[in-house]
Amino acid sequence: DHRVGTLYGSSQNSMALAAAAERVAAEFEYSAQDVNRGVQEFMREMDEGLGKQGATMSQIPTYVTAVPNGTEKGLYMAVDLGGTNFRVCSIQLHGNSTFSLTQSKVKIPQELMVAKTSKELFAFLAKQIETFLKTHHNDHYVNHVEKRRRKGSLFEGTHDEEVFHLGFTFSFPVQQSGINKGTLIRWTKGFDIKDTIGKDVCALLQKEIDALDLPVKVAALVNDTVGTLMARSYTSPGKTGTLLGAIFGTGTNGAYVEKLARVTKLKKVGAGKQDVDDSTGEMIINTEWGSFDNHLSVLPNTPYDKSLDAESNNPGIQMFEKRVSGMFLGEILRRALVGLIKDPSVPLFSDEHSNQNDVHSTTNIHDNSPLWSQWALDTSFLSIASADNTAGLKNTRQTLDSDYGVSAPSAEDAEAVRLIASAVGKRAARLSAVAIAAVILSTGKLQHPTDIATTNNATLEVNEDEVVDVGVDGSLVEFYPNFEEFIREALREVEGIGKEGERRVRIGIAKDGSGVGAALIALVADRAMRASSS
Ligand code: GLC
Repeated sequence: DHRVGTLYGSSQNSMALAAAAERVAAEFEYSAQDVNRGVQEFMREMDEGLGKQGATMSQIPTYVTAVPNGTEKGLYMAVDLGGTNFRVCSIQLHGNSTFSLTQSKVKIPQELMVAKTSKELFAFLAKQIETFLKTHHNDHYVNHVEKRRRKGSLFEGTHDEEVFHLGFTFSFPVQQSGINKGTLIRWTKGFDIKDTIGKDVCALLQKEIDALDLPVKVAALVNDTVGTLMARSYTSPGKTGTLLGAIFGTGTNGAYVEKLARVTKLKKVGAGKQDVDDSTGEMIINTEWGSFDNHLSVLPNTPYDKSLDAESNNPGIQMFEKRVSGMFLGEILRRALVGLIKDPSVPLFSDEHSNQNDVHSTTNIHDNSPLWSQWALDTSFLSIASADNTAGLKNTRQTLDSDYGVSAPSAEDAEAVRLIASAVGKRAARLSAVAIAAVILSTGKLQHPTDIATTNNATLEVNEDEVVDVGVDGSLVEFYPNFEEFIREALREVEGIGKEGERRVRIGIAKDGSGVGAALIALVADRAMRASSS
């Protein structure tokens, strides 16, 4: 094995490799001071977004003015478009903080993400809804079709109770103008269909549903973060309610409970008071924090971040997301690795028996290795490498070999990769803490625990009303090793939070929250409609 020869004869090489890896890892350090500067800027941008349209951080009013308390009941549908998969589900809310969920999931064909027309995408979605109904709610479906055949038109003859109310989780920035109305501001996360910008996505979906004559009515438009917040409130109704729902997955974003009076832009755009149910004095705001600090005043900006952005399909936007979320972390790591591979003084994946004049052939990397192509390094690899505690980093080496076209990587290679992967992941977690800290500080939840409405003081445990509850979902929080721990470490470094504050922050996974949350919002919308029509 020539690797043995290489390693045996070249402890100098190993040292050069380790030093280079440390140098690159250090580029991803994000200090306590950086975190604090980030929080200040984040709070400033939150305020700015509440006051005007078109701010960097969109701070979108969702028209959802109450969070559930666990007693909600009924059968609802939800669909979820926002990342790699399209999910269709029906949710039975049992009214005791529990629910049952039936779901199906399909991968969204790449060509539909960049289709010529919206119709291609939305017709595909409606088709999935049809398949789901036929598979899981066939009685319902057949009944409806029968009735329709007799009566002629879609909703005629179909009682409203027989129509599924559907919550549409659409996880892109949308200018919402009502609970089931909103126009797409811009696509993110690799979607790019020009023709959808500025259109009402609920209407687009309803049109294709109607074209298939399905007994389904799009009742609510929901961002996944809002769904996560709702689901978390339903399933773990704390005494203080959930403050923030956040996604750290393919993309990243958060939605939180804001005082209606602080959403000053609602008045300015003349969104008539009649549109807003102001009985709670609160409204959930979808921050769209993926675009925090697009102007890069506080965000880190390594050469890898720069080239990733320049070669993305949306340069200059979603700059926070590009440093934090799953869609991008693999690509950051890939760029950092390629930088080292191409550096002749760094023996990463090196094969000394090859032709020294050609970068590709001096390595053990196959020409068709995913490491050479954009987006081809999956973020799950960061989790594998960062979590690797096998002897000689066997897992990392195996994965490099089987999935990434690197033959027989050495333990030193794997160690270099692990070091950089961990640095990229840790920076993402510390940046995530910036967002969470800013929301906590800006809403004043830590300073004034008693401000928070509580219903039943007698049964409160002493600390329970001091808890700040955060619901999270997404592949990064779920699978990246110690993601929450890194977040907490950074929260402790934030002025105004510190160790005391950090202990009061409760972070809980709201698994599949967006589906349940969408159902809950469909329920709220349904009730509101009945109330106004009776
Ligand atoms: C992107 C979308 C946002 C969504 C987030 C998480 O940032 O713009 O709407 O919530 O991804 O899926």
